[in-house]
Amino acid sequence: MSKDTLSITDNRTGKTYEVPVQDGTIKAMDLRQIKVAADDFGLMTYDPGFMNTASCKSRITFIDGDKGILNYRGYPIDQLADQGNYLETAYLLLKGELPSKAQFDAWAEKVTTHTFVHENVKELMAGFRYDAHPMGMLASMTAALSTFYPTSKQVRDAQERERHVNRLIAKIPTLAAFAYRHSMGLPYVYPDNELSYAANFLQMMFKTSELKYKVNPALERALDVLFILHADHEQNCSTSAMRAIGSSEADPYCAAAGAIGALYGPLHGGANEAVLRMLQEIGSKDKVAGFVKEVKESGGDVRLMGFGHRVYKNYDPRAKIIKKMADHVFEVTGRNSLLDIALELERIALEDEYFVKRKLYPNVDFYSGLIYQAMKFPTEMFCVLFAIPRMSGWLAQWQEMIEDKEQKIARPRQIFLGSAQREYVPLHRRG
Ligand code: CMC
Repeated sequence: MSKDTLSITDNRTGKTYEVPVQDGTIKAMDLRQIKVAADDFGLMTYDPGFMNTASCKSRITFIDGDKGILNYRGYPIDQLADQGNYLETAYLLLKGELPSKAQFDAWAEKVTTHTFVHENVKELMAGFRYDAHPMGMLASMTAALSTFYPTSKQVRDAQERERHVNRLIAKIPTLAAFAYRHSMGLPYVYPDNELSYAANFLQMMFKTSELKYKVNPALERALDVLFILHADHEQNCSTSAMRAIGSSEADPYCAAAGAIGALYGPLHGGANEAVLRMLQEIGSKDKVAGFVKEVKESGGDVRLMGFGHRVYKNYDPRAKIIKKMADHVFEVTGRNSLLDIALELERIALEDEYFVKRKLYPNVDFYSGLIYQAMKFPTEMFCVLFAIPRMSGWLAQWQEMIEDKEQKIARPRQIFLGSAQREYVPLHRRG
């Protein structure tokens, strides 16, 4: 009869151990009993980059990387993108269920009434140099919000948590738009609470002297869909950072600031900016084959940005939706000339043995930058556009972590390969 256990024979001692297998996993702590001597620390696993380590049990987002499936709370991403909106998606991630009409209205009202930031935020923002990267500003300002809301430290209080979750989701577009306006030397535009989440952000970004900024409905919808697609992606680098920082019971503003920092890197959320720069550097369709050759010959140093994923070994379902949506956006904005280079890159890469063998497909960042650029967002804002909706995913994951009785402060082990203990030699006696 089959048993849900794993038998391990330690060939160093000849001893056999039986450890439980649950949800396709063994507990790393169950290996600690495997020792060669009584004073031995016990066996650990070594997993740089957490390639094969589950850090939590989660009920939020499901990904099947081989099949290219992404579900939020069981709902397929294409259905949410097709029929849903970002705010109900955020509610779904946070609460586990889609809202009723009444719940949605109450939630939208709550978010909308928290969009304003304290006037002192503008003074803090003014301290940044004119060319400060908006991600640096966004991370700093998000951390700074914690000083405005000292009760956010009460992370074990569910009511307090909810208050700050609402605030963070509501205020991040305001901080993001302020960061942009600062870098342009433009006056800040206050939130317009009559507009949708996406439309309000667009008016805070682009409004100039007109009394009421007219948001193009096609672009408003496109941005809202992009927000849905970026809302969560289970235990990625920034979410793991959010959980790790939150595990010390730091307040959610500081934890989110850390997550923004993690997202900033070009291997994660900074990839959309890197894709655009790569396409601009390639310059024309006829140079694509040469660039692909350079990538292959570089031994991993030059990467085809927007390609490859730790989890997806198939076409990223988000990239598929974005690629289709690009046409609707370009109907309004005009076609982005870099699209031809991107399409040619994708065509060549998907036929090339190097990429096929490594299962490298376009990811969410490959086409999103083209849309953002067509919508007149500067390249530096691309990662910020990722951070705005990911806030709901980070917070849903943070809440789940706080409520999970099995979670502890994140504190990995190491394999120490440095010097054995040695005696200190005073400076004057060192050669
Ligand atoms: N271009 C060229 N080669 C690549 C690429 C790429 N974009 N991605 C992976 N490889 C190669 C890599 O060199 C390695 O080859 P080899 O086996 O010969 O050493 C192999 O594929 C496996 O790569 P890896 O770095 O071990 O894979 P990983 O799971 O650690 O990295 C990744 C995943 C996303 C960091 C990586 O694919 C990458 O750097 N992609 C480009 C950056 C990018 O688009 N990031 C956005 C990810 S999606 C948005 C998000 O959620 O952040």
